[in-house]
Amino acid sequence: MSKTRLALKYLQYKMNACTDHDLHSPFVYNLYTELIRNKHQYYDFETLNQVRNQLLQNNTSLLIEDLGAGSKTFHNNRRYIKDIAAHGISQKKYAEFLYRLANKFAPATIVELGTSLGLTTLYLAKACPRSRVYTIEGSESLFNTANSIFSQQKQTNIETIRGNFDTAFPELLKSIPSLDLLYIDGNHAYEPTMRYFESALSKKTNSSVFIFDDIYWSPGMEKAWHEIRQHPEVTLSLDLFYIGIIFFRKEQKQKEHFVLRY
Ligand SMILES: C[S@@+](CC[C@H](N)C(=O)[O-])C[C@H]1O[C@@H](n2cnc3c(N)ncnc32)[C@H](O)[C@@H]1O
Repeated sequence: MSKTRLALKYLQYKMNACTDHDLHSPFVYNLYTELIRNKHQYYDFETLNQVRNQLLQNNTSLLIEDLGAGSKTFHNNRRYIKDIAAHGISQKKYAEFLYRLANKFAPATIVELGTSLGLTTLYLAKACPRSRVYTIEGSESLFNTANSIFSQQKQTNIETIRGNFDTAFPELLKSIPSLDLLYIDGNHAYEPTMRYFESALSKKTNSSVFIFDDIYWSPGMEKAWHEIRQHPEVTLSLDLFYIGIIFFRKEQKQKEHFVLRY
């Protein structure tokens, strides 16, 4: 999808998205006020901002093997850490949303597909110090960079896995009791996204939350997001444009979908 098409989609989203005034579901209203409208600056945000700023000034170049659906920004495999930090990872606003989400639900087992420099992994790990955070990355140089950041931060609740999601994720699923929070942030294409989603269902619980990044990145991702929302096990879906979130709560008797302004 071209950047112009994405911009038009964003405009459409901004015009149609609802705010707390339009929400009648108490669960969604609470999520909106606690996760989106909440401007509380957690103590960890200061540290996480410092890590982001250091990455944004880091002139080291890395050779990246891209196992995913490619990039709209990068056109060769040699990339500066500062450029990856500026264009290849989640923006601060969405990373802070992930922190608040993880902090609210305190998921015991968190899985992230797509570590990159490890910044969103750190947000998740700091939000839930008692949780186990598994993160999978295919590129060796990114894997090594993220590992050294986790050591510098003395973040001990992260387990890094180097491998292709296609094989490493099904292997990981066999070894974990449940999948309480899943964040898919890599290989943004229809077929693999649907495959990761379907295999993840085997370990979901009533309170699991799955987050999909870049749901409008391409027509294929948009199709995947549409089908995921329609899945019979999904009872609630939230569209924040850059991310889509699904829940499986049986308390939610009627399937609902909300486009929320963020
Ligand atoms: C958008 S980045 C992740 C950004 C990170 N979550 C953040 O915001 O801080 C996606 C990452 O997924 C990795 N990736 C993509 N497809 C993959 C695959 N099939 N197997 C393993 N890693 C993959 C890429 O190398 C890249 O580092």
